[in-house]
Amino acid sequence: MGAGASAKEIAEQVAEASGPELGKTLSALGTENCEKLARALEIWDSSTAALRANITRAAKLVGEAEALLICTGAGMGVDSGLGTYRGRHAGVWSPLKALRLDYDEIVRPGWFSTDPRLAWAFWHFCHQAYVRGQPHAGYDILSNWGTSLKYGAFSVTSNVDGHWARTEGVGPGKIFEVHGAVTHMQPLEKDENTKVWPTTDKEIEALSVPTWDLKSGEAVEVQVDADAGAPEAGEGHNRKWIPAHIAADGCSITFPDPKRHDVFGVRRAGGTDLCRVHESSKLPQCSATGKLARPNIVMFDDRNVCYQRIHQQSAAWASWGETLPPDVRLLIVEIGAGKTIPTIRRTSESEARTFRSANLVRINLDDSEVGKELADRAVSIGGLGALEAITLIDAELKRLKPACSKAVPAPKRGASPKRGASPKPAASPPAAAKTKAGAATKVR
Ligand SMILES: NC(=O)c1ccc[n+]([C@@H]2O[C@H](COP(=O)([O-])OP(=O)(O)OC[C@H]3O[C@@H](n4cnc5c(N)ncnc54)[C@H](O)[C@@H]3O)[C@@H](O)[C@H]2O)c1
Repeated sequence: MGAGASAKEIAEQVAEASGPELGKTLSALGTENCEKLARALEIWDSSTAALRANITRAAKLVGEAEALLICTGAGMGVDSGLGTYRGRHAGVWSPLKALRLDYDEIVRPGWFSTDPRLAWAFWHFCHQAYVRGQPHAGYDILSNWGTSLKYGAFSVTSNVDGHWARTEGVGPGKIFEVHGAVTHMQPLEKDENTKVWPTTDKEIEALSVPTWDLKSGEAVEVQVDADAGAPEAGEGHNRKWIPAHIAADGCSITFPDPKRHDVFGVRRAGGTDLCRVHESSKLPQCSATGKLARPNIVMFDDRNVCYQRIHQQSAAWASWGETLPPDVRLLIVEIGAGKTIPTIRRTSESEARTFRSANLVRINLDDSEVGKELADRAVSIGGLGALEAITLIDAELKRLKPACSKAVPAPKRGASPKRGASPKPAASPPAAAKTKAGAATKVR
C-alpha cells in the first residue's frame, strides 16, 4: 500500500485484506492521514497476538463505557505534526540548539523581562506550529466515542496547543487545559484585576521573525560574551560578534578556537539576528495597559501566570465529575503523556482509583507501562503512535459493537464519589520538572 494512494483506494484494499470495518474507518478519515494509516495497517498485519488482544480489550472497554475521560500529553500531537518535549519526537526550534537552551530553560517567564524579543521569537514559533497544525483524525474519533455515551466525555490535557478546544463535541466546554494554552494571553505582570484575553492570531503572525535557513558548514557571526574568560567576567552584557560556522545538524555552532562560548545571537555577516523578533515589530501588548503581553501558559518558575481561565476549566471538570455515579463505567483513555512532568499520568491513575469500575487504556509510543496497582483494570498499548492506536481500536470497536452493547447491564445510580488527587490547577511544570543545574543563570 504505497504512499500517494487515495483514501478510497486504500479503503478498498483494506476492506479486501482486513475486513470492511477497517476499510470504512480509513475511508472516512480522508487522504491526508493515509500514509500514517497505511503504516498502522502494516503494524496490524505484523502485530503480535498480545498487541491485537490489547486492541480488542481496549475496543471492548470503549463499547461498554458510560463515560469517557480523555487525558492527553504531547505525544497526542505528534501525528498533527507537533513535537514533544522529550524523546524521539522532541520538537526543536533551531535557535535553541544554537543558544544551547533546552525547552525547560526557554519556557520561563523571566525571558519576557530580560530578552523579550527572544521570548516572543520562541512563542511565535510554537504559536504558528499549533495554530497552523490541524488536530489529526484521532481527535474526532475520540470525540465520537464520547458523544454516544450516557455521561459523555471530558478532556484533560497538559498540551498548550488548543487542539481539543477545536474538536467538535469536546471543546471548548469540556476541556481542562491544565497548563493553559497559546490561544490566550495575559499581561506579563499580574495583579488582582488581571484578565486573560483570546490571542489575536494576526497579531502573532505579524511578528517579523527571521527564518532559520542556515546550512551545515555555513559561515556566520555569533554573539558571545566579550569578557568571557577574564578573571572579572560576570553576568555583564558586554557582547561582541565573532566568526563561527554552522555544524552538521544545521543548528549548532562550531568555533575556530577550542573555547566553549556561551551563544547569545546568530546572524549572517552584518545581517539580522536569527534568534529574535526583528526590531521593526511591536511585541504583543495588553490593550488596556499597553504593557508587554505573554501567553497564558503555566511556565517553569512562573509566579505571574493568571489562573482565571484555567480555574474555570477546572471547575467545569469538577462539575462533570459530579454527574458521575461511583460505579460508573468510566473509561480513561490516556495518550502520549510523558513521565518527566507526570501531571497527566497521575490524573488518569487517580481517576481510575477514584471510580471503582473505571478502566484505563494507556496509549504511549515508549512509556506505556502501568503499575501493578491498576494492572487488572488497565490496558497498555505501546509501540504505536496515537493515531495508529486510536484508528485500530475504532475499527475493532465497529466490528465488536453490537456484541458490546448487548453485554452492558443497566447502570446503578448513586452519589458521586469524591475526586482523587486531580491535577491542581495551580500545579506548574516547575514543581514536577527537574530543571538543569544553572538554568536560572541562563535567563539573560
Ligand atoms: N502539543 C503541545 O501542546 C505540547 C508539545 C510539547 C510539549 N508540551 C508541554 O510539555 C509538557 C510535558 O508534556 P509531556 O509529558 O506530554 O511531554 P514529553 O515530551 O515529556 O513526553 C511525550 C510522551 O509522548 C510519548 N509519545 C511520543 N510520540 C508519541 C506518539 N506518536 N504517540 C503516542 N505517544 C507518543 C512519549 O513516549 C512520551 O511519553 C506539558 O506541560 C506540555 O505543556 C506541549
